[in-house]
Amino acid sequence: MSLHLPHRSALAYGAATASYQIEGASTEDGRGASIWDTFAARPGTVRDGSDGSVACDSYHRYEEDADLVAGLGVGWYRFSIAWPRVLPEGTGRVEARGLDYYDRLVDALLARGVSPTATLYHWDLPQALEDRGGWLERSTAEAFAEYAIVVHERLGDRVGVWATHNEPWCAAYLGYAAGIHAPGRREGGAAHRAAHHLLLGHGLAAAHLHEAGVSDVGIALNLAPFWPESPDAVAATDGIDAIRNRVWLGPLVDGAYDAGLLVVAPELADPAVVRDGDLELVRGSADWIGINYYTPFRPTLADPALETHPEVDAYPGATPVSFVVREPRTDIGWEVEARGLEELLVDTHRRTGLPLVVTENGAAYADDTLQEGAAGVIDDQDRIGYLRDHIAATERARAAGADVRAYIVWTLLDNFEWAEGFTKTFGVVHVDPKDQTRTPKASYHWLAEHVAGAR
Ligand code: FCB
Repeated sequence: MSLHLPHRSALAYGAATASYQIEGASTEDGRGASIWDTFAARPGTVRDGSDGSVACDSYHRYEEDADLVAGLGVGWYRFSIAWPRVLPEGTGRVEARGLDYYDRLVDALLARGVSPTATLYHWDLPQALEDRGGWLERSTAEAFAEYAIVVHERLGDRVGVWATHNEPWCAAYLGYAAGIHAPGRREGGAAHRAAHHLLLGHGLAAAHLHEAGVSDVGIALNLAPFWPESPDAVAATDGIDAIRNRVWLGPLVDGAYDAGLLVVAPELADPAVVRDGDLELVRGSADWIGINYYTPFRPTLADPALETHPEVDAYPGATPVSFVVREPRTDIGWEVEARGLEELLVDTHRRTGLPLVVTENGAAYADDTLQEGAAGVIDDQDRIGYLRDHIAATERARAAGADVRAYIVWTLLDNFEWAEGFTKTFGVVHVDPKDQTRTPKASYHWLAEHVAGAR
C-alpha cells in the first residue's frame, strides 16, 4: 500500500472506474442531483434511454468489487468521488453519509492491500452548480476547490495520490459545445471558458492539496495523437491539436495559452475570463499527468455537409475536420492502434518532464456475440489482444525514456457508458443487468496472470 506514486523501477498496474458509471444509489444517503441525472432524463440523450440511477450498484456492492480488484492482483484502484454525494448543493452543506461511503470504500481497498487513487471530478457536477451556469462560471472553479478540501480532510490520511479532473476536454467541449455529454449545451466558443475554469479549478484545488501536504496531485487528460491523412489537413490539425492538447499542457507547463490556440479560441484572450495570476497558479501545479488513451485520430478536411457533426462542434473555432477511422475497430468504432499510446507517452513526458500514469486504456467489444467458454466465462480474446498490445506499447515508451509509473485498465466492470448507455461494454468483468451478478471475463484472468508474471 502506498501514499505515493509507484516507483519508476517497474510498471505498476491498476483498475479504474468512475462514480456515476458504477455507483447507482442516485438518491440515497442525501446525494444531490448531478448534471448526468438531469441530462440522461432528457429523451434522446442516451442511446438506450438508460441512466446511472442503478448502474452496477457498486454503492452497495463495493466490498465485492474490492474483492474483484484484489483478485486481479493489481496494486491500485482508481475510483472517482461523486461531488453531489459530498456537497449535495455543490457548496456549503456537507453530507456526512456521502463521505462515509468513500471512507468505507478506501478501508475496503486497504484491507485487501490495494492502494486507492481518487479522482475528484469525473463529470458528475452537482446540478445546483449547473443551475448557476456550471463550468462557464468562475464560481464553479472556486466551489471545486472547496469540495477538494472537504474530501481531502476526510480521506487524506489514507489516500495520497489524487487526480483533480478526468478528461476536462470532454467536460468542456462535449458538455458545452457539442452537447453530447451533460449538461448538453451547445454554446460554441463559450466552451473555451469552461476549459479555463476547469483548469483554474484544478489549480486552486492543487494548491490546497499541496498546502495540506499532498505531494502527488495529477490530472487525467485524454490527449490525442493527431495523424493528418493528407498534407492539406496539416494546417487544420493545428487548431484541433490546440483545443484538445495544448489548451491543457500550455498552462500546466508554461503558464500560458499559445498564440496558435488564441487564434482558434479568442475567448481565452479575454482578461475578464483569464485573470491575472490564473495561469501562474496552474503552471507547475501537476506532479504527474494521467493519460487516458483509446485511439489515434486521422484528421482530413471535413466535407462542408458535415458541419453539424459533433466532431466539428467539439472543436469550436477550428477549421472543420473529420476523422478517418481505419480497421481494426472496437465495438464503439474506435481504431485499434497501440502505436498511438507509445507516441503520446513519449511526447508527453518530453513536453512535461513529469511522471506519467496511463490512467485509462481498454476496449469495448460486443462480448455477447462471442462464444462463451465451458464455465460460462466470456472468452474475450479481442479484448485480451487489445490490452496485451497496449501494455507492450507502454513498456516500449518506458524503454524509450518516458517515465510511466502505472498502467490502469479501463475498466473493472461493464457499466453505464455515458451517451452509449449500457450498449458498450469495456469491463474485464461482466455485470448482469438483471441481477448484478459479476462474472470475470477471460481478459480478467489474462490480466491477473500478466500482473502476477510482471511482479
Ligand atoms: C473515457 C472516460 C471513461 C469511459 C471511457 C470509455 O473517455 O473517461 O469514463 O467512458 O472513456
